[in-house]
Amino acid sequence: MKIAVPKERRDHELRVAASPDSVKKLIGLGFDVVVESGAGEGSNFSDESFRESGAAIAGSAAEALGDADIVLKIRAPRTDGDNEIANMKKGAMLMAHLSALSEPEAIKAFADAGVTGFAMELLPRITRAQSMDILSSQSNLAGYKAVLDAAGELGRAFPMMMTAAGTIAPAKVFIMGVGVAGLQAIATAKRMGAVVTATDVRPATREQVESLGGKFLEVDPEMEKDAQTEGGYAKEMPPEYFEKQKQVVAEHIKKQDVVITTALIPGRPAPTLVTEAMVKSMPEGAVIVDLAVEAGGNVEGAEPGRTVKKDGVTIIGHANVPARLAEDASTLFSKNLVNFITPLVDPETKELSIDWEDEIIAGTLVCKDGQVVHPALAPKES
Ligand code: NAI
Repeated sequence: MKIAVPKERRDHELRVAASPDSVKKLIGLGFDVVVESGAGEGSNFSDESFRESGAAIAGSAAEALGDADIVLKIRAPRTDGDNEIANMKKGAMLMAHLSALSEPEAIKAFADAGVTGFAMELLPRITRAQSMDILSSQSNLAGYKAVLDAAGELGRAFPMMMTAAGTIAPAKVFIMGVGVAGLQAIATAKRMGAVVTATDVRPATREQVESLGGKFLEVDPEMEKDAQTEGGYAKEMPPEYFEKQKQVVAEHIKKQDVVITTALIPGRPAPTLVTEAMVKSMPEGAVIVDLAVEAGGNVEGAEPGRTVKKDGVTIIGHANVPARLAEDASTLFSKNLVNFITPLVDPETKELSIDWEDEIIAGTLVCKDGQVVHPALAPKES
């Protein structure tokens, strides 16, 4: 059985779906591994380091993919221009962040090509799957990096400093959305000495914020009682909630030096949490980081891939924040993939033995045998 790891082909994608360490583990499971030359460049993994771990190095994507049974990628293969799918053999298994809910037409193209696709972003959030969770591993790093990005732009220090010349007050940091990224942002900003407040629609987050030393900003506990899905995600909130949230946040945000927004609702555009008027009300020199910018954005005026200045406030909208820490992001992503693949291999025969009914498999499988199979991608009944 052969696993191929091609170079990522999307713009500004520095990550790679294998590390020298994950290659060793995959070989230990009984696979041959081939890595496309240069695939690890953006993550500081040289061809040599992959070779030393036991991988073969292929000169091109076509050479790597041609007879591969499993293809590991960070992002979905392109179906336009540089058609990566054309190089894959029928029946090959593709494991990556496929953006299945936002790009269903690509999943149809993978199905038409006979590829068996696993959308790793749809992994059920059950205890057994935690070590395979690419959204968690990448969000964690994004939350950390967002704080550093903000600190890099802010003309002030994060911690309180008592100097001979006088005392500097600590920076005030406000985190909106306390999922994996938000929690890491709170922890990072606290470690750097900031005064941290945070808010979320899911009531369970209050205790998490407080346990990290942050203060929770409450909006409406009554409406928040029903804000969480069984899967642990936020639901889309009614307009009355947004009105209330707007009032509470508008008052609070006026005094904040840094705001980091991370609020997402799976399969839907990100909610707008910071309006133009709120930006205007912030102190001169304040910094906002919108981590949801690629999903539509939480902040009015944020632009994907750009840093803009509005009314004296810097709004950072970096695209693909995990790729800004490509080495660690690739290391964790490839560990997630190894943990996903390990239970699929029979330890005796070293052959693939997949239980298609398993919750983790059924939850991620989006196309197989020429068909789109995931219930979330079924055509809507009219
Ligand atoms: P996410 O990335 O989907 O959203 C980020 C945060 O934004 C969430 O906390 C959400 O409640 C919040 N949000 C959404 N709309 C909002 C609004 N209008 N105002 C304020 N906040 C809003 O969330 P993420 O990071 O994927 O985590 C979701 C849940 O999954 C959490 O409960 C997390 O602890 C859980 N989880 C469970 C795992 C497991 O058991 N395997 C692994 C990772 C996360």
